[in-house]
Amino acid sequence: MRGYQLVSGASGVYQAAEARIVQGTIDTDHAGFSGSGFLNLANSAGSYAEWTVPASAASAATLDLTYANGTGADRPMDVTVNGARVATGHVFPPTADWATWSTTSLPIPLKAGANTVRVTSTTADGGPNLDRITVR
Ligand code: GCU
Repeated sequence: MRGYQLVSGASGVYQAAEARIVQGTIDTDHAGFSGSGFLNLANSAGSYAEWTVPASAASAATLDLTYANGTGADRPMDVTVNGARVATGHVFPPTADWATWSTTSLPIPLKAGANTVRVTSTTADGGPNLDRITVR
C-alpha cells in the first residue's frame, strides 16, 4: 500500500502488482511492462482489479490505462470510481501484439481521501493485459 503524501489533488502511477485482483494474475511473459509484472485478468466477464487512489482534495482527474491487447478484437471494460460507473464498455483496441503497450484515457471524478478505481471485464474474453494506471 502507498502512503498519503500528495501535494494537491491526486497523481501517481499505480502498478499492476499494487492492485487488488479478483480473477487474474500478475504475469511477466510478454515484454515491455513496467514494474514487476502486468495484470492478466481472467478471460471472463466480471474479472476485475482495483486500486486505492488517495486524493488530498476533490478533483476532476484523468485516468490513463496502459495496456496490451494482442488479439484482433476490442477488449471493453467498465470503469467505476467509488462504486459509481464512469465508463461502460470503455474500449481497449487491439495493439500490435501482447508486447506492444498503448495508453487509453478517460476523465474520472475523485473525492478527498481514499478513492477506489476499479476496472471490470465486460465480456467472456476478459480485459486487456494492464501494465499500470496513472492518475493525473
Ligand atoms: C494470451 C496471452 C495472455 C493474455 C491472454 C488473453 O494467453 O499470453 O497474456 O492475457 O491471451 O487472451 O487475455
